[in-house]
Amino acid sequence: MRTFDIKIPVVEARLDELTPAQRELVNEAIEATTRSYAPYSHFHVGAAIRLDNGETVSGSNQENAAYPSGTCAERTTCFYAHSRYPEARFETIAIAARGTDGELVADPISPCGACRQALLEYETLAGHDVEVMLVGRDRVFILPSVRSTLPFAFAEF
Ligand code: THU
Repeated sequence: MRTFDIKIPVVEARLDELTPAQRELVNEAIEATTRSYAPYSHFHVGAAIRLDNGETVSGSNQENAAYPSGTCAERTTCFYAHSRYPEARFETIAIAARGTDGELVADPISPCGACRQALLEYETLAGHDVEVMLVGRDRVFILPSVRSTLPFAFAEF
C-alpha cells in the first residue's frame, strides 16, 4: 500500500497581470454574466471559450421553474460551442460570476462537478490541455487543464 498526493498547480493573478488574449476572454465571460437567466438564484454566471478556429463562444446559466432543468454557464457554453463549431477544438475557458448584489464575486467560483465532467470531454477531444481561468473581482485563478480540476474523473476507454 502507498499514499500519493495529487497536486494542482494554480496561478493566482491580478487582472492587470493577464495577457491581452486572456484579458479579452475574461471580459467576454464577465459580459456573458449580463445575459444570464437566473430569476431563482439571482446568481449570474458567464463563461467564454476560445476555440482553435479563432472564434470565441460565450454563454450563461439558464434557470428553469423546474430547478434541475436549468443549466450552468459552463455547460451552456461548451455544448453550444461544440454544436456550433463541431470541428473546432477548445483552447481556453474563462468563468465569471456576479452575486446577488450584482457585483463580480471577489473570489472566483469554480465549476460544479457535472460541468467539470462535461468540459473534460472536450479537452479529451482536443487532445491537449484546455486552460481554465476562474475570474474574481480581486484575483483570477489559472489552472492548466480541465483534468486538473477533476482528479479521478470518469472516463470510458
Ligand atoms: N452555476 C453556474 O452557472 N456555474 C457554476 O459553476 C456554479 C453554479 C449556476 C447554477 C445556478 O443557475 C446558479 O449558478 C446558482 O447555483
